[in-house]
Amino acid sequence: MASKSKTKRAKSKAAAKKPAREVVRLKAKPRAAKTAPHNGVPRPSSKPWGRAGRALDGVRILDFTHVQSGPTCTQLLAYMGADVIKVERPGVGDITRMQLRDVKGADSLYFTMLNGSKRSITIDSKHPKGREILDRLVKECDVLVENFAPGALDRMGLTFEHIHKLNPRMIVASVKGFGPGPYEDCKVYENVAQCAGGSASTTGFRDGPPLVTGAQIGDSGTGLHLALGIVSALYQRVRTGRGQKVLCAMQDGVLNLARVKLRDQQRLKHGPLTEYSQYGEGIPFGSATPRAGNDSGGGQPGWILKCKGWESDPDAYIYFITQAPVWGAICDLIGRPEWKADPDYATPPARLPRLRQIFDTIEQWTMTKSKFEVMEICNQHDIPVGPILSMKEIAEEGSLRATGTVVEVDHPTRGPYLTVGNPIKLSDSPSDVRRSPLLGEHTDEILREVLRYSAKEIADIEASGALSAAEKKQEAA
Ligand code: COA
Repeated sequence: MASKSKTKRAKSKAAAKKPAREVVRLKAKPRAAKTAPHNGVPRPSSKPWGRAGRALDGVRILDFTHVQSGPTCTQLLAYMGADVIKVERPGVGDITRMQLRDVKGADSLYFTMLNGSKRSITIDSKHPKGREILDRLVKECDVLVENFAPGALDRMGLTFEHIHKLNPRMIVASVKGFGPGPYEDCKVYENVAQCAGGSASTTGFRDGPPLVTGAQIGDSGTGLHLALGIVSALYQRVRTGRGQKVLCAMQDGVLNLARVKLRDQQRLKHGPLTEYSQYGEGIPFGSATPRAGNDSGGGQPGWILKCKGWESDPDAYIYFITQAPVWGAICDLIGRPEWKADPDYATPPARLPRLRQIFDTIEQWTMTKSKFEVMEICNQHDIPVGPILSMKEIAEEGSLRATGTVVEVDHPTRGPYLTVGNPIKLSDSPSDVRRSPLLGEHTDEILREVLRYSAKEIADIEASGALSAAEKKQEAA
């Protein structure tokens, strides 16, 4: 009995002590957190905003891209701070350097506006010495980005297996026209993707042919998707230590941007699309999402209306949205206050069959004012409108210059030109928009500084023809 009660006392003593020990442990934890990183994230920087480097500092990109889709992606990564090394064919370079040239002898705007903030090295990837240099670059870089036709990278000997053997941390990112399937081997340009991704069949007017859009949703849109894939893979690599393949098919990218039209395709099974003006006009729907002209894509009906000067100015128009909460304000503005109480106009469902007539009436009002006047007046009443801005107006718009969305840079052969800066603004990572490089401008610098070749080795490489072979072939042709 005695020994039993002793044990009991000992146990209760221990129990009484336990909380004290726990308190000690609990106190110790926050002290440790002060010095150790939290979930691998270091303590918040004390540097002023914008002075802690740029988001992708330290990331090196082996940029094998050409034309538009791939270069859009790598330019964005460069704006975010990555060191982008563009590999180009000697003597020729990215084909867009020579396409749509406006200044004789100077790289085209097509090229300069897609390749800012990058470095250029010329290497003949089919020359044995060129292959050797590329292998060395693979070891020094974090990401390889390419948008060659299917199979071209493999034909250069740069298969994923080869790359990963050299550098298991390497992320290999590709744009292709189509994903795996019947069209995977096809070469694809912008408008092919717009058509195959569902955009063209749903763009344009009902009584006209399918239309492509001016915004390059196939090329630049896919480049943007690819950039997101790359930064995600870089983030995963922090945990796994290994790279991976990132693939963006242009058809998929366009479809992602046109997803509301696939939404409407499914809604068709359950009845007409009442927000399409075709519904109000009493025209039956077919089996596929129709072209909707300038109908608004969402549930708030909208249309493009003429403004003062439309007879001579092709851009004197405004997009006008009859958002339900501001319907009363719209009626007052256009001089139709009686519509607010009229059962034919007072509610959104009542207005749907009359949209054409309603927009015609609003247009009688917008035609008495410039698009900027309409914008100013409507915004005072929270009515959502958008002036149709020409590219001339955008190029001259002061606020876009002030935010760095439109940037003027100087170029040694073409002089100053405008480019689109980083449309994504990070509060701690300012974008540095620099002019595009001349063909092979940084070849020597990269061989020396990134690949650490000696002067003698560089002389041997130059003599081998790996940096100029294609040029010689072209001259001979
Ligand atoms: N040195 C030597 N050869 C080089 C080279 C270098 N530095 N860089 C590229 N090349 C070669 C490639 O090896 C390839 O040769 P190969 O076909 O003999 O193997 C060739 O140049 C490039 O081929 P390709 O990509 O087929 O160019 P293209 O001008 O015939 O086709 C596209 C252009 C855009 C249609 C095609 O690249 C494509 O479909 N890309 C994927 C989709 C895409 O991005 N499209 C949008 C473009 S904006």
